[in-house]
Amino acid sequence: MDIAGSLIGLRDEALARIAQAPDLESLDAVRVAYLGKKGALTAVLRGLKDLPAEERPAVGRVSNEVRDAVEAALAERRAVLERDLLARRIRAEAVDVTLPGRRRPLGRQHIIHQIVDEIVDVFVGLGYRIAEGPEVELDYYNFTALNHPPEHPARAATDTFYVKDQSGGATGAGLESEVLLRTHTSPVQVRVMEKQQPPIYVLAPGKVFRRDVADPSHLPQFTQIEGLVVDEGITFGDLKGTLEHFVREIFGPDRRVRLRPHFFPFTEPSAEVDVSCAMCGGDGCRSCGGEGWLEVLGCGMVDPNVFRYVGIDSERYTGFAFGMGAERIAALKHGIPDLRLLIEGDMRFLRQF
Ligand code: DAH
Repeated sequence: MDIAGSLIGLRDEALARIAQAPDLESLDAVRVAYLGKKGALTAVLRGLKDLPAEERPAVGRVSNEVRDAVEAALAERRAVLERDLLARRIRAEAVDVTLPGRRRPLGRQHIIHQIVDEIVDVFVGLGYRIAEGPEVELDYYNFTALNHPPEHPARAATDTFYVKDQSGGATGAGLESEVLLRTHTSPVQVRVMEKQQPPIYVLAPGKVFRRDVADPSHLPQFTQIEGLVVDEGITFGDLKGTLEHFVREIFGPDRRVRLRPHFFPFTEPSAEVDVSCAMCGGDGCRSCGGEGWLEVLGCGMVDPNVFRYVGIDSERYTGFAFGMGAERIAALKHGIPDLRLLIEGDMRFLRQF
């Protein structure tokens, strides 16, 4: 048989299969089929030694040319397939920078904290410091040192959450060592004055607790903001001017302030503060129940009895104090009809602020 002829036939067959190999794996299979240990071309080359000596050089030259041609075609095809593969991978991993981004939901501060921060900013702007006290408080700070007599109704176990009755007896009996959840932020006044001599200008925001059932105007846990000023020559006029500034900053420049005489055990004289209704400007309408005014806070001049408890000389110093509910301020400012909305965590409500 013509060995050179069959070598050429093998070469053409191999080149055709190489040209059609769709990927690197198939290409390698073609290489093994012709040039592998048991490959078709390898078998022919191995048979060379059995040829008559005079035929060997010519057939040897042809077989070398065939092997070189097949190897060159393999290398060329491999380069093409590798380039394709790389191009495909780059296309698959490409990022389309023109795609619009996915918007992540953005959280925000709860409306109660927003209003607390707003009020804090007003008083920090006047030079007040922020003070804090414990939410679990002693009767002494919550009631006694704030001039509440032992039989004061706020001390009743029906009004105040008692944590521990240290006497072993009935709670709410006015024992100074009793532990309770503070019912207002006023005890922070006592703690500040115990530690610091005047001049004192502090604002004390914090949580307070009362045995109330939640309804449109009451929450068993809410937020109060307490103010205390003690200095030489502080008058009721200073208190009124401070509150007018506060009301205008929080509710707007057109709002007016009215003080009504009231009673608190720890201030004398005491007053409740009203702000003119935003809807009617004081004439009376449906939104203010015909009153024209809305109550915003309690205040007064620090009672000399309180100064006595903390060792401040009431002959030399006078002071004023005020306390307000942050939830109530937020409700008045934003027209929220029911305080319970503020604590229910309904996103449809909260997203509005
Ligand atoms: N502690 C009072 C309350 O919870 C509010 C209050 C009234 C605070 C008058 C004051 C004040 O500092 O002077 O009802």
